[in-house]
Amino acid sequence: MKNDIENRDDIYLLITSFYKKVRENEILGPIFNHMISDWDTHLDRLTDFWETNLLFVPKFKGNPVAVHQKVDKTFNHSITNEQFGIWLQLWITTLDNLFSGEKAELAKNRARKMATGLFLKMYEKRPAT
Ligand code: HEM
Repeated sequence: MKNDIENRDDIYLLITSFYKKVRENEILGPIFNHMISDWDTHLDRLTDFWETNLLFVPKFKGNPVAVHQKVDKTFNHSITNEQFGIWLQLWITTLDNLFSGEKAELAKNRARKMATGLFLKMYEKRPAT
């Protein structure tokens, strides 16, 4: 029986395991490796994000919508639904490998919602065709 996500150390483990998979993924890896030069800072930032989201510790101050619009622009507005699908699949697999419980399920649902919202905001920001 796996434990649920309980503290920052658990979230850090989740985040480092997830981004290891992302970086090795042949479709997502090149995007992240191009955009992120300082991986320690990114991992810390995303640990803050999920700590705020799942454990309600008020740490994360960022703007994910603007950040993902910038990523899409850098790649000539070519980020796809399929890429978001792969991101989600890797997130769910990582969670299932490591944790089980209410917080783990919440982490899946929050990511599903955010993937939809972020993609929509990215899409709205694209130049008219
Ligand atoms: C194909 C899908 C995705 C791609 C390619 C992507 C890419 C990136 C990249 C490259 C960054 C760092 C940008 C920078 O620091 O300059 C970033 C940051 C971030 N991503 Fe994603 N992402 C994806 C999906 C998601 C999803 C579904 C979530 C939410 C659950 C998410 C949450 C975040 C957050 C919270 C940050 C930090 C935002 C900030 O600093 O304000 N990403 N993403």
